[in-house]
Amino acid sequence: MLTRKAIIAGNWKMFKTVPEALTFVHGFRKTAVGLDHVEAVLCPPFTALALMSESLCGSGISLGAQDVFWEDKGAFTGEVSPVMLKDAGCSYVIVGHSERRQYFGDTDEKVNRKVIAVLSHALTPIMCVGETLEERESGVTKKVVRTQTTAGMAGLAPEQAAGMVIAYEPVWAIGTGRTASDEDAQEVIAYIRSIVQEMFGAEAAGQVRILYGGSVKPENTAGLMSKVDIDGALVGGASLEVESFAEIIRVTSETKG
Ligand code: PGA
Repeated sequence: MLTRKAIIAGNWKMFKTVPEALTFVHGFRKTAVGLDHVEAVLCPPFTALALMSESLCGSGISLGAQDVFWEDKGAFTGEVSPVMLKDAGCSYVIVGHSERRQYFGDTDEKVNRKVIAVLSHALTPIMCVGETLEERESGVTKKVVRTQTTAGMAGLAPEQAAGMVIAYEPVWAIGTGRTASDEDAQEVIAYIRSIVQEMFGAEAAGQVRILYGGSVKPENTAGLMSKVDIDGALVGGASLEVESFAEIIRVTSETKG
């Protein structure tokens, strides 16, 4: 009954110039195996999107942006709209990453507006949720992910919810080398799936893809991907080198394939 195709998405954050991005694509196209079973998504900075889209042509590798504004166009200096991202060749958009929430004022309400805007342009949001270390230590992880998930997905139709991607990224695991244990990640992700079921029904919950993110590396991929509710990963640091990102995809393909 498991029909969810695994996704491995690379979040490059504020790394790589255009020439560096194109060099990566060149190497990655030669190196990556397992792409029949795993959807690979690269999320570079805005500046590299259009040229990367050209160089990914025919590779089956998808392109995503790291953020978006919810209006189509207008006097919003510095912002980029879903229309523009589509035009640049994107099919995915990361929304509500913890760094956006922490440094740039993305609230649950803003995340929801972005999710709705992305979906209304037939792009796929990768909506990030996750607790801080303090929240985990005070035992409110489930409460936090419930609030973020319900607020972020408010007002969606069940078919829209079903087509989304959610990334569970414990903030304390991002860029720190500390990962959630396979069991903890599975437990929270199963819980998020149960929230989607409460909101949108069993079919949407069975289809929505939920990723784990936070210090994913080739060495911890198999354990995480062996868990039934974990449908892939959002990878930061280890997505910047061809070898490690390709290896994460290969191991995921082997584990899920
Ligand atoms: P990391 O980042 O893999 O470097 O921990 C993950 C993310 O921020 O999406």
